[in-house]
Amino acid sequence: MICSIAPAKVLLFGEHFVVRGKPALGLAVAVYAKACVHSGSGKIFSRQLGIVEKDSKKHALFSALINAVYERYGPLPSFDIYIDSDIPMASGMGSSASISVALTQALLTALGADFNREDIRIIAHEAEKSVHYKPSGVDTSLATYGGLLYYKQGLFRRLNLKLPENIALIIVNTGIERSTGEVVRDVLNRSERLGIIAEHIYSAGENIVEKAVKSIESEDIVLLGELMTVNHGLLWSLGASNKSCDEIVYALINLGAYGSKLSGAGRGGIVIGLISMESAKVAQRTLNEMGYKSIIATPDYIGVRNVQSEE
Ligand code: PMV
Repeated sequence: MICSIAPAKVLLFGEHFVVRGKPALGLAVAVYAKACVHSGSGKIFSRQLGIVEKDSKKHALFSALINAVYERYGPLPSFDIYIDSDIPMASGMGSSASISVALTQALLTALGADFNREDIRIIAHEAEKSVHYKPSGVDTSLATYGGLLYYKQGLFRRLNLKLPENIALIIVNTGIERSTGEVVRDVLNRSERLGIIAEHIYSAGENIVEKAVKSIESEDIVLLGELMTVNHGLLWSLGASNKSCDEIVYALINLGAYGSKLSGAGRGGIVIGLISMESAKVAQRTLNEMGYKSIIATPDYIGVRNVQSEE
């Protein structure tokens, strides 16, 4: 059995702003999707979903991916596929892209193909494009390469930077699934109505990303956290937040986070907090008592890789 893992992602800054040509910053986090392949009769099994039936919506992603591999590398022998993912679905952490990337690597390894990471990213992005509406490609890039990614107007730049080792992200799931397309449309409509006011908000969003990169370079975590909270305020003003996201932002700041914001489309999905490792554990216990599910995640700077199979 050949197994590969790929990390999830969070958007640290710039979601929504990026839709109107401003920069954004994403980070791969050490929460993984694992894909294993084994010679078999073409069955797909997910630990979370059970057997993935051939005519199901979920199967479409796997078919698209197998097709994309076929187009580049020729016919595949018959495999069974096993998926096991710790990444919450439909919450903005890129679970589908991480599965696609991990599975592409496992399939190409099993085929004995000659490939590099860019091949993996391209194949996974092809598959994502056929099942999701206009994916920006940030999820597949981060799942493939890991680390910090600056992107603007469709161009991606990997940053050779790291967060200090004692710093984690606490990722709180609102449990509210939302449609990215709907929130994007509402935010764009509001920004159009706001006119010049929106221009100021969007250019503040851009300044935040540039200052955030500098604060990571200088390891100014207090400023980085503050910028996150300000970014949340701007997203709130554009209508991307909701009561649940706001309550979690307040809770995280009260629990010692340097800063907090919604991450991804908003109005549900996840809220992230920048926090020290020591405070993270206490905060997680309290959040649990408040009824919120959370993950303490460190960055992943490696990206997709093969792992030992458990059998
Ligand atoms: O919800 P996510 O993580 O897929 O993020 C959406 C990010 C937006 O900027 C709101 C939309 C986009 O396509 O960039």
